Amino acid sequence: MVEKIIEVTDLKKAFKANEVLKGVNFYVRRGQVFSLLGSNGAGKTTIVRILATLTTLGSGSVSVCGADLVKQPNKVREVISLTGQYAAVDEMLTARENLRLVANLRHLKNYTQKMEDLLEMFELTQHADKLVKTYSGGMKRKTDIAMSLLGEPEIIFLDEPTTGLDPQSRLRLWDMIENLKNQGKTIFLTTQYLEEAERLADYVAVLDGGVIVAGGTPSELKTALKDVSVAEYENALPTLEDVFLSIVNKGGSAQNNADKVSSTSQSTDQNTDSQRADSQNTDSKGGENE
Ligand SMILES: Nc1ncnc2c1ncn2[C@@H]1O[C@H](COP(=O)(O)OP(=O)(O)OP(=O)(O)O)[C@@H](O)[C@H]1O
Ligand SMILES: [Mg+2]
Repeated sequence: MVEKIIEVTDLKKAFKANEVLKGVNFYVRRGQVFSLLGSNGAGKTTIVRILATLTTLGSGSVSVCGADLVKQPNKVREVISLTGQYAAVDEMLTARENLRLVANLRHLKNYTQKMEDLLEMFELTQHADKLVKTYSGGMKRKTDIAMSLLGEPEIIFLDEPTTGLDPQSRLRLWDMIENLKNQGKTIFLTTQYLEEAERLADYVAVLDGGVIVAGGTPSELKTALKDVSVAEYENALPTLEDVFLSIVNKGGSAQNNADKVSSTSQSTDQNTDSQRADSQNTDSKGGENE
């Protein structure tokens, strides 16, 4: 049976008159890298902040590791970590002091070795006793991510983790995300870099207009779009970027494409016993595409 470590049902959220989430449905399987794609302002950070108990939901239900987000927020907080879109590092402390602060806030014991390992992994050891305000943007970001990993979370939320990183640091962070996945962690990743989703994600959900308009493995999304737009892509598989743009930019045909992508995902679900069969399809809950 699929273990749905995160399950989101009919999630709605408005900021005053701005209805950002209009009935979002998806689930994340334990051990998966789940990537949420969407344009600027689509609501990705809003979803992450709701799942991390930082923003209240409007309506709908969310469970995280079996805990109800609204009724048991503390249970949710025990199993997650969040690296937000903007670095939450105290610039007047050193990296090591920031890590110690998190350890104390989380009441962690015997964390010294883990802290040193994280500093090493992010190549921060040499700089660990310098004030963060003297760091480059990438180093701040790496300190932030190291802080979020200190408590051995089950689920790691990374909101655009590689924004602002140079290509080399980005590649290293991708390796690190793969390592975390190999350790059995579940990763919830938002990104605008399609290449990133393509490289890392087991499942990609596209958020547009307040709902999930398409979902599937990166290759399923590409194959499905190839089926619907043969003329455009001839025999070459489109990149995930083509798929994304086609779904979010083409007005009327966008929904059409999204429907086809989702229905292809569903038939894949029914016909394979592979990992994908355990994966979700967004219209199985009957909602977003209607
Ligand atoms: N605290 C808030 N108060 C009012 N409006 C908000 C708040 N947070 C987000 N919004 C609005 O919700 C919408 C979605 O914002 P959100 O930050 O979730 O988008 P995003 O997909 O993460 O975008 P980006 O790719 O730019 O990070 C935007 O219209 C934004 O202005
Ligand atoms: Mg955001």
